[in-house]
Amino acid sequence: VGHIDDVQELRKTKPTTIPERFVRGMDERPTLATALSPTPANMPIVDFSKLAKGNTAEIQAEISKLAAACEEWGFFQVINHEIELNLLESIEKLGREFFMLPLEEKQKYPMAPGTVQGYGQAFVFSEDQKLDWCNMFALGIVPDYVRNPSLWPKKPAKFSETVEVYSREVRKLCKNLLKYIALGLSLKEDAFEKLFGLAVQAIRMNYYPPCSRPDLVLGLSPHSDGSALTVLQQAKGSTVGLQILKDKTWVPLQPIPNALVINIGDTIEVLTNGKYKSVEHRAVANKEKDRLSIVTFYAPSYDVELGPMAEFVNENSPCQYRRYNHGEYSKHYVTNKLQGKKTLEFAK
Ligand code: SIN
Ligand code: FE2
Repeated sequence: VGHIDDVQELRKTKPTTIPERFVRGMDERPTLATALSPTPANMPIVDFSKLAKGNTAEIQAEISKLAAACEEWGFFQVINHEIELNLLESIEKLGREFFMLPLEEKQKYPMAPGTVQGYGQAFVFSEDQKLDWCNMFALGIVPDYVRNPSLWPKKPAKFSETVEVYSREVRKLCKNLLKYIALGLSLKEDAFEKLFGLAVQAIRMNYYPPCSRPDLVLGLSPHSDGSALTVLQQAKGSTVGLQILKDKTWVPLQPIPNALVINIGDTIEVLTNGKYKSVEHRAVANKEKDRLSIVTFYAPSYDVELGPMAEFVNENSPCQYRRYNHGEYSKHYVTNKLQGKKTLEFAK
């Protein structure tokens, strides 16, 4: 990605027109594509404190709510998630400071072609591919084999150590949610954790500068996540930007202050043989305001072999996916452009 493809730099030049590389075809434009819901949806809300500290009846009720959210939406917001507010604020402030650094500083951590770690635009493979109105910075967190220490920024001060602390907290939340998701599926509570081995965790920050023609561009192309679970933090005061494809309609998600957005990734879709589905989503740009999202991906270890779990395969629900190695799936995911749920065809 050259200088001119960096949307923050592009924005500084105050272009009178949007460069062709960002202008979407008619069928992809956010205002013209599939119907757009006029109002943000009532996304399910899961109260984590009821799961963690409720009495037996409360826990059961919240697990049912969680299960319904996973089955009907594939997306929900978690409140009372036990991650300290000042940690959410710190990661957001530092993320913002990182993106505001001079380009030369950020380019000390370049995203190599065909990889997704570092600063740049992931999922770009050809000259004629349209670009997203977004700058990204991503890091592998655990296990060691996904970590690339040379990409951990020295600036802003405290950035890297805060990413570390934040990731530990989000990891705890992922493990807990997977436990309750397992229980909601009548599985043993450690069913997913056991399967995942040394689970892989990565973080990606997406920065969307304002765009003079948000009707022509996409902040982030439609896609489902390759992860098992994704945890998304939307910076305070940022605009509505995330949209979820539900019943063929793009539904904007209204952020709840301090809540985290969770979504089901391709891996859970495969494991549950499609009972829970990964849901296509995208981000749109805004004319006046920028937006920052901080996204954690939680997935099985790369050496794990996956396929639908026996519990979800029967006469009424024939096996829909093959068995495959999760490392190969991850590689397939990061070496293809974002295109709806297309990457999941790998598992068919
Ligand atoms: C993502 O899907 O990775 C992020 C979408 C967002 O910025 O809300
Ligand atoms: Fe995503």
